[in-house]
Amino acid sequence: MAVLLGLLLALLGCAAAPDPALEEAWEGWKSLHAKEYAGEAEAARREIWEKNLRRIQQHNREESQGQHAFRLAMNHYGDLTDKEFNQLLNGFTPARREEPAQLFQAVEALKTPAEVDWRAKGYVTPVKNQGHCGSCWAFSATGALEGLVFNQTGKLVVLSEQNLIDCSRKLGNNGCQGGFMTRAFQYVHDNGGLNSEHVYPYLATDTSSCRYNPQDRAANCSAVWLVAQGSETALEQAVAAVGPVSVAVDANSFYFHFYKSGIFSSTSCSQKVNHGMLAVGYGTSQEHGRNVSYWILKNSWSEVWGEQGYIRLLKGANNLCGVASQASFPVL
Ligand SMILES: *[C@@H]1O[C@H](CO)[C@@H](O)[C@H](O)[C@H]1NC(C)=O
Ligand SMILES: *[C@@H]1O[C@H](CO)[C@@H](O)[C@H](O)[C@H]1NC(C)=O
Ligand SMILES: *[C@@H]1O[C@H](CO)[C@@H](O)[C@H](O)[C@H]1NC(C)=O
Repeated sequence: MAVLLGLLLALLGCAAAPDPALEEAWEGWKSLHAKEYAGEAEAARREIWEKNLRRIQQHNREESQGQHAFRLAMNHYGDLTDKEFNQLLNGFTPARREEPAQLFQAVEALKTPAEVDWRAKGYVTPVKNQGHCGSCWAFSATGALEGLVFNQTGKLVVLSEQNLIDCSRKLGNNGCQGGFMTRAFQYVHDNGGLNSEHVYPYLATDTSSCRYNPQDRAANCSAVWLVAQGSETALEQAVAAVGPVSVAVDANSFYFHFYKSGIFSSTSCSQKVNHGMLAVGYGTSQEHGRNVSYWILKNSWSEVWGEQGYIRLLKGANNLCGVASQASFPVL
């Protein structure tokens, strides 16, 4: 037993003793998120959690001194290293753009509203939780399809990610190991429909076979549109004209993982996108006498993360985090 424990700690490259002052906080966090660990795993997970907690506290101290525009908070991913987090959750594979699709381009003189929020118009379902499965692409795709169905029928129907995970492999999607929003839309197009979450519930695994039932069709897709790559102007016009639009961002940084509130503007994200999300609007807020514009993005990491499950991401800052690099939407 002692030998095993020594090995485990050596493998993780760490051997610091837990901070006794954090005992109560650790127990509280475990119980809040229903975490249980077998034997030696607990010490290693606690050490990761303590490291994450210290980095979060450090960032928030800097934020209160005016060094950042957004705050962080501990969440249910607090026992994962950055690397584990990215392997488990960030399942968007950048497309090589070979799908047949229409291109949505910015129209020079077009006026868009100053603010758009499709949540207020009834287009957006409650925030979901992808669990430990790299299925963000499926959540992003259902989000755009849910908006489309609402526009067509006036009914908000929660659509099935599991249907996409189980049935769109032949298009190159890879379940919990990642996929493409465009290929999810293409599946709905080719398949002639998609089931609702109610009849085809989410399992957070990708080992089940396809159980699509055409009798229970809840959505359709007749074509896939790509937003001109890298153009935030085109993305703004698409969001204003169409409804919620699927986007991908670079979500690999620690700051993104533990984002809590404010306008996210970290320099630690690149334009190499890896995480599917849903742009449900944009707006502007007054920060220290300046107007700061942001995108409103819906995530699938539960309501615990961010602003009740959403992030406000700095807009008009050279395509920050690649938000306009791989945007797409379905039409009927
Ligand atoms: C659907 O979209 C069209 C234009 O894109 C709009 O005119 C119409 O009001 C929308 N319907 C609903 C129910 O929001
Ligand atoms: C999808 O398309 C089919 C065939 O055009 C139609 O019968 C059905 O009502 C549509 N369903 C939805 C949810 O739009
Ligand atoms: C901020 O935006 C408001 C409304 O669009 C505008 O009236 C105001 O002049 C802007 N302020 C600055 C500092 O740009």
